[in-house]
Formats: sequence, C-alpha cells, structure tokens
Amino acid sequence: MSVADLKTEAVSILRTNDRGGYTVPTARLYPYQWNWDSGFTALGWATFDEARAWREIERLFEGQWTDGLVPHIIFHQESSDYFPGPDVWQTSKHDPATSGISQPPVVATMVRKLLEASPDPDGVAERVRALYPKMLAYHRWWWQARDPEDTGLVVILHPWESGMDNSPAWDGALTRVPPPRRTDYVRRDTSHVDAAERPRAADYDRYISLVEGFVERGYEAGRLYRETPFRVADISINAILLRATEDLAILAERFGTGAERAELAGRIALMRQAIADCWSPGRHLFQSVDRVSGERIDHVTSAGFLPLYAGVPTEAQAAEMAAEMARWGEGGFLVPTVPHWEASFDSKRYWRGPVWAVVNFMLADGLARCGQPALSARIRADTRVLIERAGFAEYFDPRDGSGRGGGTFSWTAAVGLAWALE
Ligand code: GLC
Repeated sequence: MSVADLKTEAVSILRTNDRGGYTVPTARLYPYQWNWDSGFTALGWATFDEARAWREIERLFEGQWTDGLVPHIIFHQESSDYFPGPDVWQTSKHDPATSGISQPPVVATMVRKLLEASPDPDGVAERVRALYPKMLAYHRWWWQARDPEDTGLVVILHPWESGMDNSPAWDGALTRVPPPRRTDYVRRDTSHVDAAERPRAADYDRYISLVEGFVERGYEAGRLYRETPFRVADISINAILLRATEDLAILAERFGTGAERAELAGRIALMRQAIADCWSPGRHLFQSVDRVSGERIDHVTSAGFLPLYAGVPTEAQAAEMAAEMARWGEGGFLVPTVPHWEASFDSKRYWRGPVWAVVNFMLADGLARCGQPALSARIRADTRVLIERAGFAEYFDPRDGSGRGGGTFSWTAAVGLAWALE
C-alpha cells in the first residue's frame, strides 16, 4: 500500500473508532475511552480535524475526579465486551462511571503540541484556558496522592497504571499480591485476541485482587498509598510526568499564575534529580524502584530509555543508551519492550517483547532531544516499515514484524498520521 493509501486508512480507523467526541482504542477489545490512548489519538485527529482533536481531550476530562485523578478508563457507555467493567471498579458515584486508577499522564504534552500546531492559536486559546486548571489538578493529584513524601518519584499502585500492563518489571512486586476473592470472573480479552498474545491467568488474578483492595479501602488515597501490596516508582511514568510537567509549565507562562509557575519549576527540579538517581550503571538505562522492598527492579525493558523523553540523561549517558538500544535492534525491529536475549522475552506477548508505536514515538522524540538524531530516525523508519507491512496493529513482533493483539488500532493509526508516515 502507498503512504497515501495508508494515511487514508488511518483516517478511516479513527472515524470508525469514534464514539462521539472520544475514540475507542479498537472496537470490542477496548470499548471505552482510555486515558493515554486519547492523548496520542488526539494528535492523529489534529492532522485532519483539529476541532475533533480538542474534543478528545475535553471528553477525557469529563471523567476527572474531584481530587484531580484522571482515570485510566472512562466508561461513557455500557458494553459487555470488556472485563473488569464499572461493576467491578464500583466507582458509581462518578458520572460518567470510571475506573479508579490512572495511566501515563501524556495529556499536557499533547495539549501543548495541539496548541503549537494550531493554525489559529488565538482561536483555540479559550479551550486551553479551560483545560489548564484541570491538567494542573491532575499533576497535583500525582504529587499528592502518589508522592506524599515528596521524594520526587510518584508510584503506581497497579500494573495497569503504567500502561505497560504485564511488563516483566512487575513480576517480582506482583508475587506479594494475594489471590482475588472473586475467582469466578470471565475475562473478555482472550475471546477477542489469541491468549498467547495477552497476559497469563495468574497475572490477571492479581490485577483483579488489587482492584478489590482499592474498593475495600473506598479509594481513600492515603490508605491506598500506605497499605496496597504493589507500590512501584515506575521509571516510565515518572519520565512521562516530568516531560508533561515541562510542557504544562510552558502553558502556564500564558495561562497560569506566578505561584503556579514557581510550583511547577520546583517540581521539575525535584523530579529531574530523583529520576537521574535511577540510572543503572552497567545496564545502560534507568530502572524502576520497588517502594515496598526498597529495591531497584533489576529488569531491562524499553521503559528504562524513556528518561530521554524528559531530557534527563547526561550526554554520555544518552550516547550509552543509544548504543544499547541499537544493540536491541540488531536483526530485528526497534524498539522491543524487552531484548530477545532476556529470559522474560516473548516476541508475541503484549509488554514482554513486542514493539509499540507510541513508545517508539516517545523514544524517537527523546533521542532527538538528547543529541542522537540518527537512532531517532531509525526508530521512525522501523515504525513506518512495521505499519507498511502489518497495518495499524496494536503491537508488532520485533523479530518478524507481524502485527499482534487487536487490529485497526487508534493510537497506532494516530502515531502513523502524526509522525511515522508523515
Ligand atoms: C492495554 C495497554 C494499555 C492501553 C490499553 C488500551 O491495556 O496495556 O497501555 O492503554 O490497552 O489500548
């Protein structure tokens, strides 16, 4: 297919997945609005329908809680295609119903991009002015609910919050999670996608058990932070939050107050230092920290390269990371979630090997930012080849380039339009 035909197909995927101002990641497998998916998807919309791109973000914030949390799923309408739905999350006092955890906060970065790409920045200023306090409240939620001790690193309390659901980096911390009370549940994901490409049953049990623990504690942020058995300072969410805070600070120059600008600058400095301290010499990347055991999580995954996206590495570290990443790509496609020589590598299973277009987008941005334009260009070229060969799949096998997981995927289509096929 020609690039023009691929772009036409990408536009049609977004239109087909449009449910009225928000876009489902793909029909049936993910029938609601997902937090970070919407951020990337808005960039795709902006290439042909800017007003619709803004609606995507506005509809995401319809799900925001009064404490600032922007949930990872907004259940705008009912569906029997997905488990766990609103009845399991039990957050029914919220309208629309939502999940009770968050996801990587890319939204402020995307709003800045939308504004800067707009042919009519003054015309959209009112929309940004309305979004700005909501984004600020969201970032503050991360700092207050998830870093109440002001360490500079926020924690995730569920693997789903990382967006990298079954990363091998979570295996150790998950062993502390007890079996769920409810064992009669029926997964829906494996009726839409081959089970070999989805998380295993034992992992799923723990995902559900964690949700039960949140419900039992009434989603009270302090109790969740202190009592939940899975508490991890995920390197990728911290890098993404730092980057988004930098972008929010740029927006604050026009839409915020002096006190807010000072607050954001303080957070940026604190986070930058704390992430820099997660460098893992000898591994050529950064690593997450298990806050329950207090230990560094010694797994190598592509998440460890994301501090590039926030400009954290020194010049020497960035060069070392680029050399390491290039090694991961030898004889295959960049960037696998796990390099093929690791014991946990599985080329087809979700976040244990495959290439994800959105991760590539952030890593390429980070490499360019940190003085590594050649590898950045290679990542973009690989992403394009994967899309040309396999279409807009959810994720790709890094060895043979085949498409895996769900098909006609919104964020892959969007990243194609906004970047890889550009
Ligand atoms: C999966 C991914 C997550 C994504 C969601 C919707 O759960 O792990 O990152 O947001 O699907 O695409």
